[in-house]
Amino acid sequence: MFVTRRIICFFVVKLVFMIETMGIQVTRAGVSKLHDVNFENLPFGRYFTDHMLEADFENGEWKSAEIKPYQPLLLEPSTAALHYGQSIFEGIKAYKDQNGQAQIFRPYDNLKRFNISAQRMEMPAVPDELFIEGMKQLIALDHNWIPAKPDYSLYIRPLLFATDALIGVKPSESFKFLILLCPTGPYYSAPMRIYVEEKYSRAAPGGVGFAKNAGNYAGAMYPTVLAKKQGYDQVLWTDAFEHKWLQEVGTMNVFFVFGNLAVTPSLEEETILAGVTRDSVVSLLQEMGLAVEERKIHIDEVTHAYREGKLTEVFGTGTAATISPIKELRYKDFDMHFDVASWKIAPGIKRRLTDIREGRVADTHGWMLKI
Ligand code: COI
Repeated sequence: MFVTRRIICFFVVKLVFMIETMGIQVTRAGVSKLHDVNFENLPFGRYFTDHMLEADFENGEWKSAEIKPYQPLLLEPSTAALHYGQSIFEGIKAYKDQNGQAQIFRPYDNLKRFNISAQRMEMPAVPDELFIEGMKQLIALDHNWIPAKPDYSLYIRPLLFATDALIGVKPSESFKFLILLCPTGPYYSAPMRIYVEEKYSRAAPGGVGFAKNAGNYAGAMYPTVLAKKQGYDQVLWTDAFEHKWLQEVGTMNVFFVFGNLAVTPSLEEETILAGVTRDSVVSLLQEMGLAVEERKIHIDEVTHAYREGKLTEVFGTGTAATISPIKELRYKDFDMHFDVASWKIAPGIKRRLTDIREGRVADTHGWMLKI
């Protein structure tokens, strides 16, 4: 009787496991590319692991997902996303803890943001089981690709795009969801030179600035190239009306440190991305004893504080870049220079975040999802 109950229990657990994992079909790569990649030189987003996850949304529902060898897609030239940009993505990172176990940093927060982006771009939500379980299975399969080196990680790129083969302008009815993985090193190798953008804008209230849609990044490329031609690494985006209120820096959220106070632009106008790293940095700054204000911040406040010697650090935060110090900020013809080597806050936050991600200190926030 006891043995029968245990057998039934075993099959129930197995069935639940199959349902929970959405029965993702796995086709393994015959040969691994792992040894073709030089892990000492990992430019961001250049190398992809052996496998990817693919799932299609058709006739109002998600079809079964597949993990398969990383490979090209076959698409109709009329694929809607190519024409109208109905396409969103996320950036997440996985690390190895001190026992070599893989763990993902705050993936549920990225899933939440992904589905907020999906709603704004009139796309279907991706369910937890597909996004989280699919990602876990994919990473488990390619766990040997997670670099075990400070500042290195496995970058996870979920994306969703419209696949209707139709160039009529209307929301697509079919979509493809993919998860790609790339081992990656530091995003910016050196502190950045930044130009305060006064002509072009990234986002306006009522627009799509808070969504992680492809077009936001396409629209930023031309102004960024212009800034690069003048020797800057990225631009600091300002509001679309006055070009005075600060929004984001390059593809990152931005923080200004005035002694014991840190200020970062607030989210209520929906012009900036609700960064997961931004949110983590707010918590860690508070734990370091700083006051943190999420509010509107005007460029004049920044230049005045600099002139008075009160602006001590400026840095960007993002999944790809983590914490990126700004060594020079140019507004009109005024140059603000920072002695990054003497900073305490940004390097302290970066160290703390890395320690949590690599399991050197306790994850008291419950940020890490073990695989
Ligand atoms: C990220 O930080 O994950 C980003 O999305 C920035 C960039 C690589 C697009």
